[in-house]
Amino acid sequence: MTSFQYQNRQLCAEDVSLSQIATSIGTPVYVYSAATLIDNFTAYTSAASGLDHLIAYSVKANSNLAVLSLLAKAGAGADVVSGGELVRALRSGIDPQKIVFSGVGKTQEEMRAALKAGIYQFNIESVPELLSLNSVALDMGKIAPIALRINPDVDAGGHEKISTGKAENKFGIDIRLARDVYTTILDLPGIAVQGVDMHIGSQIETLAPFEMAMDKILDLIMTLRADGHNITTYDVGGGLGIRYDKSTADHPPSPIEYGKMVTDKLQAHQLKVIFEPGRSIAGNAGVLLSKIQYIKSGGARTFLILDAAMNDFIRPSLYGAHHGVDPVDEGASGETVDYDIVGPVCETGDTFATLRTMPKMAQGQLVAIGQAGAYGAVQACEYNTRALVPEVLVSGNRFDIIRKRPSIDEILQAETVPDWI
Ligand code: LLP
Repeated sequence: MTSFQYQNRQLCAEDVSLSQIATSIGTPVYVYSAATLIDNFTAYTSAASGLDHLIAYSVKANSNLAVLSLLAKAGAGADVVSGGELVRALRSGIDPQKIVFSGVGKTQEEMRAALKAGIYQFNIESVPELLSLNSVALDMGKIAPIALRINPDVDAGGHEKISTGKAENKFGIDIRLARDVYTTILDLPGIAVQGVDMHIGSQIETLAPFEMAMDKILDLIMTLRADGHNITTYDVGGGLGIRYDKSTADHPPSPIEYGKMVTDKLQAHQLKVIFEPGRSIAGNAGVLLSKIQYIKSGGARTFLILDAAMNDFIRPSLYGAHHGVDPVDEGASGETVDYDIVGPVCETGDTFATLRTMPKMAQGQLVAIGQAGAYGAVQACEYNTRALVPEVLVSGNRFDIIRKRPSIDEILQAETVPDWI
């Protein structure tokens, strides 16, 4: 269920009209719905209620402190991939015992911070990383709780840049080597094995790859238990896709359907199941609100030139991702035009959509780029010295700025010109 709906022909976030936000904050601006974030999180908790479970929201999808605090209050844990994300999670009040630390290249400094905080689990991706954690833990007089991330060699489909579960990807330990690596751990006194971890990709649109990977991992868990390892946790990763293109009938399973499948498969196995959803929690909970700066017509194409650009929202340029672009004022004329929707950055790749059929638009009107709550603001940069886009959180009929738009002076503050120039 999305909270972005038209009321009296005006697109609203919950009960706040987006044009009111644009007037008060300016554009471009990311707008998130608290209700949708919570609905999505609750879908996971209720679907997994038959399991001993932990929903560790994948912080990378949207790491704003307000978003994390909201989810923390609802009981969420966190999947973090850097020391910075760990600080965000802790500052948002997420219980360290609900934090898992993923990623192929954790530094010893990051390991130390996580051990000090007392996180629930390190997801370890290689033998050298294991040895590194062992030495940090021994040095601190601690024992690090870990799972090994296993690469089950499953093709999850989707975009090659976000596929992670195939043998040729850099992620995880090859499933054929897993047994030996678990044996290696027995000689590492700073490491305590508690489970197995996987994450096979992102924007996965069917249940089949998950099921295939889970079957392989369950076989492995059985073998490891027979070998005498105490396997009590299974982190199934994230990856569930969301519906980006409203014009097609196909859409990925919901968190409820996915959670039921996982419950059915894992219920009998005495495991604490960890989920790491990112996109399926935050994706449809946000839009990027932007203004039409100019409309350029007369040539081969008609261009809507927005005040948002690829630096603000890179998914269309980077992955060729489809995102809906909806007028904030629904209008009533019925006339449509095919637009190329672009930003002001001097790159042809600065394009949000091509030949998109939309109601006829006018200069100065607002549009909302949909499904931008995940991997939107977090992947923004200041290319062209464009300020990072502010973020707003809506709840009911109130809205708050949760990240302000920096001034150009603030952007330049971090830079220094050496005196010799
Ligand atoms: N766990 C791990 C270990 C991950 O690497 C990821 C995402 C997740 C969980 C969360 O996956 P999700 O539920 O969001 O699919 N920037 C790309 C997506 C990259 C995903 C990377 N890993 C995009 O905009 O599509």
